[in-house]
Amino acid sequence: MARRKKIYEGKAKTLFEGPEPGTLVQYFKDDATAYNAEKRDVIEGKGVLNNRLSEYFMTGLSHIGVPTHFLKRINMREQLIRAVEIIPLEVIVRNYAAGSMAKRMGMEEGTPLPRPIVEFSYKDDSLGDPLVPEEYIIAFGWASQQDLDDMVALALRVNDFMSGVMYGVGIKLVDFKIEIGRLYDGDYQRLVVADEISPDSCRLWDIESGQKLDKDVFRRDLGDLADAYAEVARRLGVMPNTAPQPSKPTLIN
Ligand code: TMP
Repeated sequence: MARRKKIYEGKAKTLFEGPEPGTLVQYFKDDATAYNAEKRDVIEGKGVLNNRLSEYFMTGLSHIGVPTHFLKRINMREQLIRAVEIIPLEVIVRNYAAGSMAKRMGMEEGTPLPRPIVEFSYKDDSLGDPLVPEEYIIAFGWASQQDLDDMVALALRVNDFMSGVMYGVGIKLVDFKIEIGRLYDGDYQRLVVADEISPDSCRLWDIESGQKLDKDVFRRDLGDLADAYAEVARRLGVMPNTAPQPSKPTLIN
């Protein structure tokens, strides 16, 4: 197949020109990074699992009427998506205190929150993706008040869907991050869920044992990350057709 033109390379994914105008091919890499890329590794098979899991969640969302950028999975590591204009914000929804919120507020991880909390970080690695108030978002023109209202509504629908799906397989959705893009249809603009939804961008805890099944396994050196993601995929019945191939030939005596 002819080499596609690379449009953008991120930490965990690469975007290539798609086959039709207005489409892109999203390639899932095995690279894992944390703490603003200070910690990094290659986790064999992670990209394959995240491609499948993101397909599963995005397809489910579209079935309940939540618009996403996802069009179809192409192969084990690639999916066809709509090209959208990404709003430069990470939209974070929290059901339980954890991570940066637990630290900032001096709360014990796992404390239930009185209601889901939606917060925004400005996407800028050089600044460490700082938490920003809505005032900044409007004043700096990243989104309008109407966009913000729509983003919160979208994020809460994703939260209800993801919480239910995870609850069905014995997993607690502690928090997650999504990115939202603008799709233009003439003068009309629609906000859609973009990027990916995977254990890279969620906190997922086993309901019974509290075992972490998300990227905190990598961030906090808690075990094998690919095993944790494979467990999420297994419970959801989302397994790759073929197991990831070993990267090196194996010597047979
Ligand atoms: P935090 O507790 O570190 O702020 O993260 C909250 C949730 O958002 C957690 O599920 C991880 C996810 N997240 C990302 O996926 N990417 C990011 O850059 C950040 C800041 C958070």
